[in-house]
Amino acid sequence: MRRLYERLLTGNKQWAAEKLKDNPDFFKKLSLGQNPEYLWIGCSDSRVPANEITNTESGEIFVHRNIANMVVHTDMNLLSVLYYAVETLKVKHVIVCGHYGCGGIMAAMENKDQGFVNNWLRNIKEVYNKNSEELDAITDIKTRGNRLVELNVIEQVHNLAKTKIVQQHWKSRELEIHGWVYGFDNGLIKDLEVSYSDIQNVEPIFRYDI
Ligand code: CO
Repeated sequence: MRRLYERLLTGNKQWAAEKLKDNPDFFKKLSLGQNPEYLWIGCSDSRVPANEITNTESGEIFVHRNIANMVVHTDMNLLSVLYYAVETLKVKHVIVCGHYGCGGIMAAMENKDQGFVNNWLRNIKEVYNKNSEELDAITDIKTRGNRLVELNVIEQVHNLAKTKIVQQHWKSRELEIHGWVYGFDNGLIKDLEVSYSDIQNVEPIFRYDI
């Protein structure tokens, strides 16, 4: 048990030493502040680390992760991260990145009681329900799940565009929202091409007079 835990601290020492070897100013630069261009909203899944799969460094991506990369309009955590990223850090892109084989998505497709997590998965069930005709027609459960992964990302991109935070920002600055899905089969990210860059594509009922 103890060795399992100490492994991380030993790993940290090795990592810090390597970074300094490559660039003696690495930590000095980081200590001066952050100026990320991207906000990443991804799944908590341990296999989807934002920096690693995009080949980026510390300081480049502001990150929020939760089960199944959800944008829930009552989630104070997500909204605070979004507000800070957009208003203060002035990121230029917000990316919702899901992943095929997502456990949260698969669980939401079942009727099994997941305890407290039911409340969170409920949001994904709504996405399923909205697209049930298409999804029910897919007989292979894995394929159906992967399609729901895509549809869920698309829905979360829509959810971002429905926030006042994003709409307010569009009044004065550019901001693009994107939907991606990462795959373990080849390590590649698929761009779902559901991007928004202004209020024009937001359904009228969700537009705020700002
Ligand atoms: Co996941």
